[in-house]
Amino acid sequence: MKQIALVFLAAAAAAVLAAPAPSVNPIQVVQARHRQFRAMGAAMKGLTDQLKSNPPSMIKIVQYAGALDALGPHVGEWFPLGTGPEDNVATHAKAGVWKNPALFRRDAQALAASTHNLAQMAKAGSAPAIRAAAVRVGHACQTCHTAFREPED
Ligand code: HEC
Repeated sequence: MKQIALVFLAAAAAAVLAAPAPSVNPIQVVQARHRQFRAMGAAMKGLTDQLKSNPPSMIKIVQYAGALDALGPHVGEWFPLGTGPEDNVATHAKAGVWKNPALFRRDAQALAASTHNLAQMAKAGSAPAIRAAAVRVGHACQTCHTAFREPED
């Protein structure tokens, strides 16, 4: 009897171990990544608006640049398998994100480098240097969108 109980326990434990890790809901992943991208878009807009105003608020510029620098290094993490155009989720990501991961990673890393540079320039406080750094960030956004994002419909 004791023997049977042990076998049963072992089988139950094995079943628990074999169960898949709690899976993330792909729809929620896509929604979260849209939120993050919109936050980046808002920070970019806030920053460029400040750069156009006279005088710009350096405090706001540092805040926007900091927000971009906080999100920039994570873009590559927002595209787990199962959240692409073939997965029945509402996404504008192209299949290339998953088919050419090395290229996608390169574009994501370029963004992270550019947002980090922007944050440093913002802290240093020279408007022309901040402007140049912001242009570089804009190019990094655009390069990836051209390659990996479907146009809005
Ligand atoms: C490494 C690639 C990559 C980089 C870099 C990148 N994006 Fe994107 N972005 C995407 C992809 C792919 C999508 C489509 C995501 C989807 O629909 O699931 C997207 C979508 C968006 C969206 C639309 C979100 C929505 O609600 O549909 C905005 C806004 C956006 N990006 C802003 C930015 C900004 C601003 C930057 C630069 C600061 C940037 N992105 C950099 C790949 C990138």
